[in-house]
Amino acid sequence: MLSARYPTDLPAWRALQRHYREEMKTRQIAELFVRDRGRAENFSLQGAGLQLDYSKNLMSRTTRKLLLALAKQARVADAVDAMFSGRHVNNTEDRPALHAALRSKISDQVGLQTPDVREVWKVLDQMEQFVDAVNSGELKGYSGQRLSEIVNIGIGGSDLGPAMASRALKTYWRRGVNFHSVSNVDGTELADLAASISPERTLFVVCSKTFTTEETMSNARAARHWIATTLGEAAVKQHFAAASTNRAAMDAFGINPAFRFGFWDWVGGRYSIWSAIGLSLALVIGMQNFKDMLAGARRMDLHFRQAAPGENMPLLLALISVWYNNFYGSETQVILPYDKRLDRLPAYLQQLQMESNGKSVRRDGRAVKVKTGKIIWGEAGSNAQHSFYQLLHQGTRFVPADFILPLRSSGGSEDQHALAIAHCLAQSEALMDGYDAADSFLRHPGNRPSNTILFEALTPDTLGQLIALYEHKVFVESVIWGINPFDQYGVELGKKLAGRLGESRNPSTRQLLQKIRAVKSRGK
Ligand code: F6P
Repeated sequence: MLSARYPTDLPAWRALQRHYREEMKTRQIAELFVRDRGRAENFSLQGAGLQLDYSKNLMSRTTRKLLLALAKQARVADAVDAMFSGRHVNNTEDRPALHAALRSKISDQVGLQTPDVREVWKVLDQMEQFVDAVNSGELKGYSGQRLSEIVNIGIGGSDLGPAMASRALKTYWRRGVNFHSVSNVDGTELADLAASISPERTLFVVCSKTFTTEETMSNARAARHWIATTLGEAAVKQHFAAASTNRAAMDAFGINPAFRFGFWDWVGGRYSIWSAIGLSLALVIGMQNFKDMLAGARRMDLHFRQAAPGENMPLLLALISVWYNNFYGSETQVILPYDKRLDRLPAYLQQLQMESNGKSVRRDGRAVKVKTGKIIWGEAGSNAQHSFYQLLHQGTRFVPADFILPLRSSGGSEDQHALAIAHCLAQSEALMDGYDAADSFLRHPGNRPSNTILFEALTPDTLGQLIALYEHKVFVESVIWGINPFDQYGVELGKKLAGRLGESRNPSTRQLLQKIRAVKSRGK
């Protein structure tokens, strides 16, 4: 189903190695513009409602041709068809990966061979009824007050999606309704919340695909204790909802059956914002805006499935990433959104990209022969200029950048957002052109590549498109590298060891435990 050949065995890979060695290794991006007057336009494209300018890359028309040939020889198109048709592309867990079904129309025929895909629209309807009932006041808290403090309890994909999207879409929050997230195991977030919001007005949404994740369950139990001790045990049923695949565990916790929202094992945690995991987001921005976000992702799905390879935004972003990762040896990629409300997007993309492609074993169990998932990091644009841009401009590292730029302010002043736009464009130019000063301390080497993704405004629709864009970029990378992006066995060992630390034979751990016991025995 998916290409079993090592990428290094593909003719295009070998051609790219030659192309890098003989033509691109010492190439300057600026030269590519001089040699190709139409470069800025020829290396720009539209995907759904997003614009991509990828002209500031170390990529000639020949490079692009060879990379597209690589995608063809790696049979990316077949893999895309396999994913959307519901084939078990998550081969190690023997499951489909049908997050696209969550935002599809039934006429799109996404994964319909998987029987429970048809339940997607039932769950959406159930979510809509619940969201409308809470927001209209029909559904109130135990003491009759409106539920205005929406607290998402979850971690990983059960936190990052709702937390990132609710922050990005702050403009769309319903009047008087607030979003909060509780994720870390240390309990500080709930402690801070309990001191600042009223239990009478609080609705906890416990998000956990497995409903066993230690962080989430310990936070959920602490939240339950808070409600039970402030409002009484009988109040629990009125102040908790849950999104999970694990009905038995929701039973055991005492989640009101009417406030449970299911999803399926073919939805990966880092791909789950489109499912009932998005319930807390829908409660805060309203169901229509949540549906608009789904519709935006669907627009990107259609673009990904229908656009010609040379006009295909996710495909090209993935190929550029592979080009730098495997031929220039880039270790990381930096995400620079020039809108403060997107400041959790880098964290979201860290899980999406690094939990998906941080793999060293191929789909067939053989060790990979090439580098795979790179390190993703980043920060909101102009803040980052006062943090790590020194390294980007004058450091010794090769760090490709993605600039992400809404053209309208998402809620502040257009005048100030105009400054953000100016900084974004200036920084990508400075990274490319550098500054050839006589004084070596002032010199900026330049020739540092970047993509710029533009869109008119940060809306549910464009946010949906942006997230789906990166989901598909990650998938294409995985196909070329021959790995399964949909499992995450690498997160289990640490969790297991945490549960039996006392039995550890690791000398460092044992010494640290002794030191901790000594400090604790001294008391506060
Ligand atoms: O990080 C491991 C992981 O399984 C993620 O894939 C997932 O998003 C997160 O933990 C939370 O898992 P759950 O939704 O089952 O609580």
